[in-house]
Amino acid sequence: MASWDPGQYNRFAEERARPFRELVGRIPTGDAVAVVDLGCGPGTMTATLAERWPDAAILGIDSSPDMIAAAEPLQTPQLRFQLGDAGAWRPPRASVDVIVANASLQWVDDHETLLPAWAAGLDDGGTLAFQVPVAAYDPGFGRVAARPQWAPLLGGALTATGPRSATPVLDAEEYVRLLSAAGLTVDAWQTTYYHVLPGDDPVFEWFKGTGLRPYLDALEPEDAEAFAAEVRAELRILYPREPFGTILPFPRLFVVAHRA
Ligand SMILES: C[S@@+](CC[C@H](N)C(=O)[O-])C[C@H]1O[C@@H](n2cnc3c(N)ncnc32)[C@H](O)[C@@H]1O
Repeated sequence: MASWDPGQYNRFAEERARPFRELVGRIPTGDAVAVVDLGCGPGTMTATLAERWPDAAILGIDSSPDMIAAAEPLQTPQLRFQLGDAGAWRPPRASVDVIVANASLQWVDDHETLLPAWAAGLDDGGTLAFQVPVAAYDPGFGRVAARPQWAPLLGGALTATGPRSATPVLDAEEYVRLLSAAGLTVDAWQTTYYHVLPGDDPVFEWFKGTGLRPYLDALEPEDAEAFAAEVRAELRILYPREPFGTILPFPRLFVVAHRA
């Protein structure tokens, strides 16, 4: 499995924290006993859930051993972290009050099956809240990967992320239908953040920590270097550096589904 690097991911911590806060800010659940954060990453944002629900047991789950290792020092009797696959996770027999998945479900398949199964485990008053990049979003490196010299080498990586045909992310309407059919009241919205990023090649650096990983991990080190150089050049054209920084427009879809 491709490796995640908590250090690289945290380089843009503030930009990445904002959608999490805005997602959690819309969760209507008052009191909670059990809260789960699926794809919790380095755990920094999971820890904020403990502030919001001080009486709840908070569990962060992530499939990356490096991310869980980064999160472990944050553990308290209230806040625990566990290695695990969100795609295989099902609510425990005792129900769950809040399920959060911020910027992680784009890595997990079969939302049509998964989300109703999670919804079924929500207690009355409970909420399922997730945020994903919109399905149509292509930051630009997909077109480098599709070039004839790279496509044959990248094979599997091309289906893991990037091209629209391969993303597991559904359209907003599909999530509203799916979760309404599961008996939840759904609040869905899309927002484009215009991040202004500092430094050299910041868009490359941003995606090196997330969406580019499957591509880079699929290549031999020498090829990965050459591929990275082409992606850098492409991203410099798509996102030119301006006197104040580099603008990265990032469209995100939010879904907050509540069991009344
Ligand atoms: C973009 S990060 C988001 C981290 C965190 N939720 C946040 O808001 O900062 C995506 C995380 O999803 C995790 N992830 C990817 N696939 C996963 C899976 N199948 N099960 C659990 N976690 C997964 C990655 O390891 C990574 O930590």
